Amino acid sequence: DAVRIIGVPMDLGASRRGVDMGPSAMRLADVADVIRRLGLSVTDEGNVRVPDRSEVPSSPLGRIGAIALVAAELAARTANAVRHGTCPLVIGGDHSLSVGSVAGTATVLAERGERVGLIWFDAHADINTPDTTLTGNVHGMPVAHLLGLGDERLSRLASVTPAVRAEHLVYIGLRDLDEAEKHTIAQLGIRAFTMRDIDERGMRNVMDEAMQVVTHGTGGVHVSLDADFIDPREAPGVGTPVRGGVSLREAHLAMEIINDSRVMLAMDLVEINPILDRANATAELATDLVASAFGRRIL
Ligand code: ARG
Ligand code: MN
Ligand code: MN
Ligand code: MN
Repeated sequence: DAVRIIGVPMDLGASRRGVDMGPSAMRLADVADVIRRLGLSVTDEGNVRVPDRSEVPSSPLGRIGAIALVAAELAARTANAVRHGTCPLVIGGDHSLSVGSVAGTATVLAERGERVGLIWFDAHADINTPDTTLTGNVHGMPVAHLLGLGDERLSRLASVTPAVRAEHLVYIGLRDLDEAEKHTIAQLGIRAFTMRDIDERGMRNVMDEAMQVVTHGTGGVHVSLDADFIDPREAPGVGTPVRGGVSLREAHLAMEIINDSRVMLAMDLVEINPILDRANATAELATDLVASAFGRRIL
């Protein structure tokens, strides 16, 4: 199989409920068949088991242990797919799951003596640690843990630490950061393309530079796409909507450029919240973006 779908129906990293239904919404939008129609073989592995909220501590930080267990299982499943030359499409679920999926990709590349490049499409930087967070929500922390910061239960899921080096990470679409996050990005020298960069330079230029960053000195790229990257007028069904996001057209162009590059090893599609959606518009839009990332062409 060329693509393997892995669902992670988890909202333990968020305070608002509902992103645990994201995998169902994407399956209702027929994501597997849409990819099959591109001529790729697709397997749907079903979901990673996620504990119910009633089984875990009620404080956001108290849920780190449960999230780490889900992430470890996801890391193993992601690594298994990548090792077999199959591209995992990880459907969330809140963004904390990416500590597991990216760790899985990083682990396989480490076996080959290589490092992973990471593109983080998001309105948010998700680079808080348990010490800097203002909300306690773990979905605001995955990048910090992939860089080796924060709580060891989340930062040591890959066979290499850090799972990702700061020089191999790029952000695209940022528009809502906490002060501590701005400080961390500056301190680590992370390449970050904000909405201002996209407005001033255009998505084509931003993507060309971003692809250089994540491919330089790496063995392949993990793409992590938070649905709140897209403007909430077009994608209202997301965990934490922020006005002023990219248009559907800009998002498609970014996915098409990723497909052109042929370097994508794994993809996360996270933070779809059907509770806030208009019908299933956001999952359908996300499914179309996935199709572009996997090679759909207009002509
Ligand atoms: N920065 C905020 C926090 O730390 C928002 C994070 C939102 N993250 C997300 N994956 N939607 O809680
Ligand atoms: Mn976000
Ligand atoms: Mn380098
Ligand atoms: Mn995010």
